[in-house]
Formats: sequence, structure tokens, C-alpha cells
Amino acid sequence: MTPGQVGTSVTGTPHIAARPGDFAPLVLMPGDPLRARRIAETFLHDARQVTDVRGILGYTGTHRGVPMSVLASGMGIPSVTIYATELFRHYGVRRIVRVGTAGAIPAAVSVRDVVIAAAAHTDSSLSRVLVDGVTLSLAPSYRLLRAAADAAGPALCGDAAVHIGPVLTSDHFYLARPALFDALEDRGTLAVEMEAAGLYAVACAEGGEALAVLTVSDHLRTGDALTAEERESDFDRTLRIAATALLTGV
Ligand code: HPA
Repeated sequence: MTPGQVGTSVTGTPHIAARPGDFAPLVLMPGDPLRARRIAETFLHDARQVTDVRGILGYTGTHRGVPMSVLASGMGIPSVTIYATELFRHYGVRRIVRVGTAGAIPAAVSVRDVVIAAAAHTDSSLSRVLVDGVTLSLAPSYRLLRAAADAAGPALCGDAAVHIGPVLTSDHFYLARPALFDALEDRGTLAVEMEAAGLYAVACAEGGEALAVLTVSDHLRTGDALTAEERESDFDRTLRIAATALLTGV
């Protein structure tokens, strides 16, 4: 790791102080900047820090010999759409896989399970304001989705179940609306998180590919939650699935 190369560039975007070429075409995107640093330290080789504007840390190294970057998204749709847009539009990024956590809705989904977001409903205006008169479907890249589904077998996931289906990307973390969760569960929704729909909307608009691979960190019905140690070990599982998807066909 060679930190400290950040903020020195005279180029960059309003929110990323990296030079052209500083990001690899393949990007892992956790929400938490400290998670991005840990991924750079433990999962990438020869990672160097490329940006730290507003504490949103980004690094570039290699994974299995292929250049790969990690950049935090921050929390929520407004934050993730800023970083994803600037990566796709200004840094030549082709693929972004979000690696994050989610709260489970149905009893069939447990904490520790993996949720691969095959679609993202949202209570954000995002799906309605982009194309006049149309509510957009926000979906991942099929190529990345298929690669993640193929990768998410027992070898990578052990005894943790893998669920592939819709999530709710909510603008509200403190969303105390059990009736809403009932209605979403009746329509097959697996979990709630706060970024996938924004990432999918940007990838479509910018001609990139995106996917969200989530660890269930808490259960909205039962109140179950992972401990800090479990979050670490279970997070590694989603990271390996995400990296395998990023590398597909490369
Ligand atoms: N709501 C929204 N986002 C989340 C949750 C949740 O319950 N858990 C993890 N990310």
C-alpha cells in the first residue's frame, strides 16, 4: 500500500481527486470508506490510494492479476449516483459491483444469507424522473448477475443460503412501516438496502454494467442482527462473489 497520493492531483471530478487512468475498469463499491480501505489492504494486491475527497476512499490494485479498484459509495441513492456517474463518465470504469449489507424482509431469508439484487424497487423519485411519464425498471447487468449466481455455490457460500430476487432501495433507513414490508414481501421482495437502484439507474444511463451483492446484516421482522465479527467474515463471502462477477469474461 502506498497511501498519501491523494488530493495532489489538479485534475479529477467534483467528488473524486484522481487522475485519468487512476481507476481500473472493474470497481468494487462498499458503502463504508473504512471497508474500502480494508478491501484494498486485504483483497487487492499492491493497492494504492487514489482519492480521499470527503473521506470517500478509493484504491487501485490488482485481483488475480487483473487491475481492480475499490471506491466507497457513501450511504443512499444521492451519494452512490454521484460516485458511480463520475466513475463511468470520467474514469473509463466499465463495471461496478456494490458489496453491502441489507435488512431481510421474509422469514425465509436469514441473517448471514447472501442476497443478489436481480431488481431494485425504490421509494425514491429516481425511477420516475429520468424518463418522462415512465416508471423505470432498475435492474443489474444480466452478465454480472449470471456470473454472480454461478459463483454463489457451496464452495464460496458454505452453509449460507443465496437468494436472487428483488430488493427495496429505500430513501429512509428508519422506515417503520410494517404494512409496506408486508406488501413488498407479498410481491417477492427479499430485503431492504439504500443504494442498488441508484447504481443500476446510473449504469444504464452511462452504458456501464452494475450489480449489488448483499450480506443480510439484520432482519426487519425478528430483530436478529450479525455481530461485528460475523459482519467481517460474512462480508468476505460477498466480496469473493462480487470479484468473480467483475472478472467474468475478462
Ligand atoms: N434498511 C436499510 N438499509 C439497510 C438495512 C435496513 O434495515 N440493513 C442494512 N442496510
